[in-house]
Amino acid sequence: MKRGLLILIEGLDRTGKTTQTTLLFEKLKPNAKLIKFPDRTTCIGQLIDKYLTENDFELPDQSVHLLFSANRWELSQELQRYLLAGKHVVMDRYVYSGIAYSSAKETSGMDLEWCLRPDKGLIKPDLLFFLLNEDPSDTSSRRGFGNERYETLQFQDKVKDQFFNVFRALENYPKPNDRLRVLNVANCSIEKVAQEIWSIVQEKLAKEPPSEFTFF
Ligand code: TMP
Repeated sequence: MKRGLLILIEGLDRTGKTTQTTLLFEKLKPNAKLIKFPDRTTCIGQLIDKYLTENDFELPDQSVHLLFSANRWELSQELQRYLLAGKHVVMDRYVYSGIAYSSAKETSGMDLEWCLRPDKGLIKPDLLFFLLNEDPSDTSSRRGFGNERYETLQFQDKVKDQFFNVFRALENYPKPNDRLRVLNVANCSIEKVAQEIWSIVQEKLAKEPPSEFTFF
């Protein structure tokens, strides 16, 4: 049986990731699963949710980073099972967010290499979309921006730089790469972005799917 594709959408806060993952999932249904990180429903996810939403709930940056990674490991076997059963998995955030957000904190010792370590061994996506909105005021005007920890323009700017550092380190960015597609979504309608994503996914689906997994 052909294995399914792991298609990941990454980006800063409020760039439309959740809308786009949902639209893509709807197009691939019923042969697809949707996974969102952090998954706030698990025990570990509930702790993460508390940290993100309650300003007086403090944890060391290292612990928070390990919780996000542990949350991914919680779902890793299920993810592999879906893919091996031929289902496509559409994913909202993953390892790249994990490294970019934690390393943007500039906590002593938490460089890219340190941040990647706990995620080593997780399945790599077959396609990775990065939604880039070069107009930060556009992002900050989106409904709900500022409600959670990390949602300040200054921090988001650092996270953006870190995302590109992660892409340089892991995906050879800016050299052409089969996996990574950076989509500039500033001033683009939801439909236009969805159409662009869908045409790239269709192209990938038309090719012979990779039989082997690659891992971080
Ligand atoms: P969400 O808004 O997509 O639910 O993500 C919640 C926040 O968690 C968002 O600001 C990004 C951040 N985050 C990390 O810091 N590390 C991670 O590993 C993940 C998946 C998200």
